[in-house]
Amino acid sequence: MLIQGGITLPVKSFAEDVREGLGKWGQKELPSKYLYDEVGSALFEVITKLPEYGLTRAEERILRRHSGAIAEQCAAHGMVIELGSGNGRKTRWILGALAHHPSTTYCPIEISSAALVSCERELDDLPQVSIVGFEAEYLDGLTRAVARRRDGEGVLVLFLGSSIGNFDRGPGEDFLRRIRQALQPGDALLLGADLEKPLAQLLPAYDDSLGVTAAFNRNLLARINRELGGDCDLARFEHVALYNARERRIEMHLRSVEKQTVKIAGARFIFDCDETIRTESCHKYAEDESAVMAERTGFECAAQWVDNEWAFAETLFKAV
Ligand SMILES: C[S@@+](CC[C@H](N)C(=O)[O-])C[C@H]1O[C@@H](n2cnc3c(N)ncnc32)[C@H](O)[C@@H]1O
Repeated sequence: MLIQGGITLPVKSFAEDVREGLGKWGQKELPSKYLYDEVGSALFEVITKLPEYGLTRAEERILRRHSGAIAEQCAAHGMVIELGSGNGRKTRWILGALAHHPSTTYCPIEISSAALVSCERELDDLPQVSIVGFEAEYLDGLTRAVARRRDGEGVLVLFLGSSIGNFDRGPGEDFLRRIRQALQPGDALLLGADLEKPLAQLLPAYDDSLGVTAAFNRNLLARINRELGGDCDLARFEHVALYNARERRIEMHLRSVEKQTVKIAGARFIFDCDETIRTESCHKYAEDESAVMAERTGFECAAQWVDNEWAFAETLFKAV
């Protein structure tokens, strides 16, 4: 279930989202969360190591250098909840810096069971940390995790890797408001956001020379074939990464190289030659944009750190 504006909505199944997204008039699209099955999560880990993909290394540099300052600001925060943790490798810096707490509860929230397992394995050697993982959507997991908060304990939410960029700007702010609603005054949110940068640097991050991002994108069709009995011919779709200047975002698409009909779970979808499915949006931000988002969503901006090698901002929000 998904709680929206106090109303509880049923979460749609993969099959329903595929039927809706591919059945659309105009731009066909699929929610990017479906990129992360076991294969997709493994490919994403490889992407983070590619020379073209500077985001992860930039954020890791910031966390390595400034986790002490982050921990100082979060002295009362014995519970750390991470939305979309992936393998959690960068989070080690924060959990390590919080080591002065007698015990920290770390709750990774992941839609991908493979990513959750690798995160729990990655961090299980931290002696003062107990890990309670949730295989869940972001807000459902957040609600379940904060319910475990002990009296007087502060909560630090991590939303790293510029995953905020997968939301359109308006819905992204709505999402931050929902996070705020789950928190109490004094709780904190650490938000990683990739900044605007020259296209010569940005585009290859989503279209690398080894073709790993292309495989990550096309795996979505392979997943449809595996899980929904689809007959997508992967050779007839190619990976496209483009910059949408109006929306200030990278978009990943799958382009049909010819006119074709695809069958999925008994339904037929017609593709024109060159028609695309949009599979992911990655919005890029101005340096001061996170602070503005904080103020509009019930937080205040407590601190910000920027990596200069690869423009990336880590911003600490305090719930007011
Ligand atoms: C871009 S990756 C970032 C991973 C990690 N935070 C990092 O910085 O490297 C996004 C992660 O969020 C997870 N994810 C995507 N959509 C989700 C959702 N709606 N609910 C929970 N997890 C989600 C994916 O499985 C993936 O591991």
